[in-house]
Amino acid sequence: MKIVAIVATLLLAVAPFAQPAHAEGDAAAGKDLAYTCLGCHGIEGYRNAYPSYRVPKLGGQKAGYLEIALQGYRAGTRKHPTMQAQATSLTDQEIADISAYLASIGGDTVAAGGTDGASFDKAAACTACHGQNGISVNAAWPTLAGQHQDYLLNSLIQYRDGTRGDPIMAAQAALIAEEDVALLARYFSSLEGLETTAPE
Ligand code: HEC
Ligand code: HEC
Repeated sequence: MKIVAIVATLLLAVAPFAQPAHAEGDAAAGKDLAYTCLGCHGIEGYRNAYPSYRVPKLGGQKAGYLEIALQGYRAGTRKHPTMQAQATSLTDQEIADISAYLASIGGDTVAAGGTDGASFDKAAACTACHGQNGISVNAAWPTLAGQHQDYLLNSLIQYRDGTRGDPIMAAQAALIAEEDVALLARYFSSLEGLETTAPE
């Protein structure tokens, strides 16, 4: 009985550090590579020109998700002219390195992110994947907690109109009632989590 409990505890403790079976990211190398990126992502309030929404926070975002996003821009399956241009020359290793670095920033805050007792029943459908506190439960899925409200809203609109064609999330977004889209963006944005990371 006791041994089972100890083994379970060990598994829980080890699981978050399990690495996907591909190029491992080197956060130190990623820090240099990410310098130019933070010229946009590291500036509080920096905006996408049209439509106008704030550039997403990347500090503390899940490494696996960052890799998927960058690979999507590079392949052109995720469309955004500026980001496609940024990602086009990155190698798989560089993407892994940058992602490891960005995920390592603000990690303590993100891990500890709490709702301060807030709850929102309309978010219940989201927490299975995006986590109870908006901190994703899977490295391949994005943390939403603390992300800019207008960026979250723009993403939800894009999933709903098909501009962002992720099969999992597009199906989820289609289920959200029209009047709840903005409320969900505001709710997840209000949670403690992701950070704008200034270049060092
Ligand atoms: C000129 C400003 C600018 C620069 C420089 C820039 N980005 Fe971006 N980035 C953006 C904007 C705007 C978006 C939102 C695009 C969208 O809505 O799909 C974005 C989105 C992203 C996303 C998706 C985040 C998410 O939550 O889905 C990632 C990851 C990312 N950028 C990483 C990088 C990296 C790595 C670099 C450097 C190699 C970089 N960016 C350089 C403006 C910039
Ligand atoms: C079955 C798992 C799952 C559920 C449930 C789910 N999502 Fe997602 N969500 C994902 C995945 C996977 C992605 C990344 C998709 C991609 O790469 O574009 C995502 C991406 C997002 C993004 C974009 C984040 C970014 O940084 O660009 C937002 C916003 C979002 N989800 C909101 C929600 C909301 C609100 C709900 C509840 C109504 C919800 N999700 C339910 C899996 C899920």
